[in-house]
This record gives sequence, structure tokens and C-alpha cells, in this order.
Amino acid sequence: MISNSTQVRLKHLLSVESLTDQEVMGLIHRGQAFKYGAKWAPEKEQYFATNLFFENSTRTHKSFEVAEKKLGIEVLPFDTDTSSVQKGETLYDTVLTMSAIGVDVAVIRHSDENYYEQLVQSPTIHCSIINGGDGSGQHPSQCLLDLLTIYEEFGTFEHLKVAIIGDITHSRVAKSNMQMLKRLGAQVYFSGPENWYDPAFEAYGHYLPIDDLVNEVDVMMMLRVQHERHDDHESFSKEEYHQKHGLTVERAARMAERAIIMHPAPVNRDVEIADSLVESSQSRIVTQMSNGVFVRMAILEAVLTSH
Ligand code: CP
Repeated sequence: MISNSTQVRLKHLLSVESLTDQEVMGLIHRGQAFKYGAKWAPEKEQYFATNLFFENSTRTHKSFEVAEKKLGIEVLPFDTDTSSVQKGETLYDTVLTMSAIGVDVAVIRHSDENYYEQLVQSPTIHCSIINGGDGSGQHPSQCLLDLLTIYEEFGTFEHLKVAIIGDITHSRVAKSNMQMLKRLGAQVYFSGPENWYDPAFEAYGHYLPIDDLVNEVDVMMMLRVQHERHDDHESFSKEEYHQKHGLTVERAARMAERAIIMHPAPVNRDVEIADSLVESSQSRIVTQMSNGVFVRMAILEAVLTSH
């Protein structure tokens, strides 16, 4: 059990880069406290949140909604199909409107990297922004829930060996995680197709074949193949990918007994990971989903306490 909760206050949560180590650990501690029944003592009687998802989502969208409801926050439903987005309303004008009508916090997912810069620089937009994923940029709440899941398992990040494997170039989860895991003292390794790997990632870890990593690391973090961000003309065989780069049943049998399997999901079963491993005893994929609610409660508390 993690102790020593620190009260974190944030105006926005845009990327993990902008968080101090203390803030990261404070949010992890608070997420775990919520998991074990801690309650929020709000300073105001009523808070409003809205979740503006311009890209599809199951986990991030719905776990923010559960987190908001568990904290007693009023949630304004928003659907791009039935809002004035269909009449050409820009993201800026949607958020300006939400802020003007009294929304305290907007959770936003959008395909444009750094979409939030114009919003947080606006002198007229007063609500907090939580980045629920910006294109292939960052996914800070996923990173924090992954960190909570790893910390619960091992009690530390120092000297842990974490392999991030798959479609790294297109993954905002990979980018947030490689930065923060290295900063917290983990040894990061990469694997997957070389054409989905950027030499810039060498600043955070080293690339190795998956078969050199599988019996060495504490965490096998598999990534979804993000077909929606690929060139349509790229040829792709699920079976070939699984055999070359995936966590097959045979490879998983070589993992250390204490090692864990992670994946941000949604999972392409039998592509990046064998179907039977998704809910196996070494998998923490379902725990990641559950931890998402508690970390998001901690994030919401941190931004609403700053109001
Ligand atoms: N992990 C994740 O971001 O899942 P969703 O796209 O379903 O939110």
C-alpha cells in the first residue's frame, strides 16, 4: 500500500513532461487512496465537467465519467454528432462556450497534436483542460494509471526493466510512458517493427529484438497497432506481425515469474498479444482499466482544487 499522500494542485493536465516527480508520485498516491476508499472534500458545492471526445474512446471517456460521478461532479454530456460542431463550430469555440456557461473542467481528446495550446493561452477560457489524448502526442492520464499499476506491483520504478513493444511511433501512450519511466529510474527498452521506431526514442532507452527482451524484463508493455494512423497502402499481415513482434504464448512462457504484461487497450487479440494472454495470471490489462478510474479521480481533484 502506498502511503504519504501529497495534495497536488494543477491548473491543467496537458502532458506528463510538465509534471514534477513529486506531482507524479502525489497523483499515484492519491489514486491508490481513492482505490482504498478515500473521499474528496470539495471546496465548492457544485462543479461541472464535460468530456469532449473528438476521437473514439471507451476506457478514457467512460472512466473519466465514472471518476467524475464518484466525486459528485455534474457531467454535461457532449456528442460531436449532435452539437454545433456539425455546423462548423471550432474546438476553440466549443471550449469557450463550455467555459462561459460555467464548466470547471473539460476533458478533451482530439486528433491534433498540441490542440490544447491555443485553449490554455486564451484569456477568455477559464476552465481547466485535461488532455485525454492528442493525436500521436501525449496521453498523460493513461501514463499515470500505468505508473500506478507498475508501482502497485513492484513498489518502485528504480532499476525496473520495462519493454515498450509495437507501434511506438504512432503511440501517445508510449511517448508519455518512455519519458516518465526513464525520469523515475526505470530502464526502458523498445522493440517492434523498425519502420515504426524513431531514433529519437534512443534518448529514453534501447531497441532490441523481442526475443532478447522477453525473459529479461519486469514489464512487457505491448502497444496496439494503430491502423487508423497508418498509410492505407502499407501491407500488413496479422499472423506475420504476431509471430515477428507479438507476445505469443511461446514467448510469454519465457517471461520471469514475477514479470507482468501490460497493454493500454483496446487490444487487437492475436496481433500484438495472444488472445489467451489478455486475461492471464501475469496480465495486468484489466487492472489498468480499473486503476484508470482512481487515477482520474486524483487528476480531477488536483485540477478542481486549484480553482
Ligand atoms: N487506452 C485508451 O486510451 O483507450 P480508449 O481509446 O478506449 O480510451
